Amino acid sequence: MTTTANLHAIAIDHGTAVAERLQHPLRDAVALSLVGKQAHWVLRGGSFLGVHRLLDELVGQWREAGDAIAERIAALGVVPHGQATDAARSDLAPLPERFLEVDEAVREVVLRIDVLIASLRTAQSHLGELDPVSEDLVVGTLGTIEQGRWLLVSQLPGS
Ligand SMILES: [Fe+2]
Repeated sequence: MTTTANLHAIAIDHGTAVAERLQHPLRDAVALSLVGKQAHWVLRGGSFLGVHRLLDELVGQWREAGDAIAERIAALGVVPHGQATDAARSDLAPLPERFLEVDEAVREVVLRIDVLIASLRTAQSHLGELDPVSEDLVVGTLGTIEQGRWLLVSQLPGS
């Protein structure tokens, strides 16, 4: 008798549970990339150009972070929750619907980066005993997101 393995899923214990732990940071990463682009568009005032360009660079990092998390979820045989409707269920609040001075925009975005950092750290705390490979992905992602936070917050005077 032959057994039919699920070739579409990495065969690890608790793979579905691991994937579910990654869904929350995925939707926060997608939401943050949308918020970052909005901030890129509504920015106004002194030091506009540097922050405008930096936000685009960070949005690229957040999109890549979401991509890597979504691909890990898919590799575990679970459909990633990475659509706009999923991002709408994220803990990230949308930006105010108006133009924002540079300092206010930076503060608003940093608050939302911190939401993603918190959800990544929560996922990391559970993944250590479930799947070190997924934990490693989350830890690497945290390093990138936290460095980007520093780049952005350093735009604030007196920071
Ligand atoms: Fe642009």
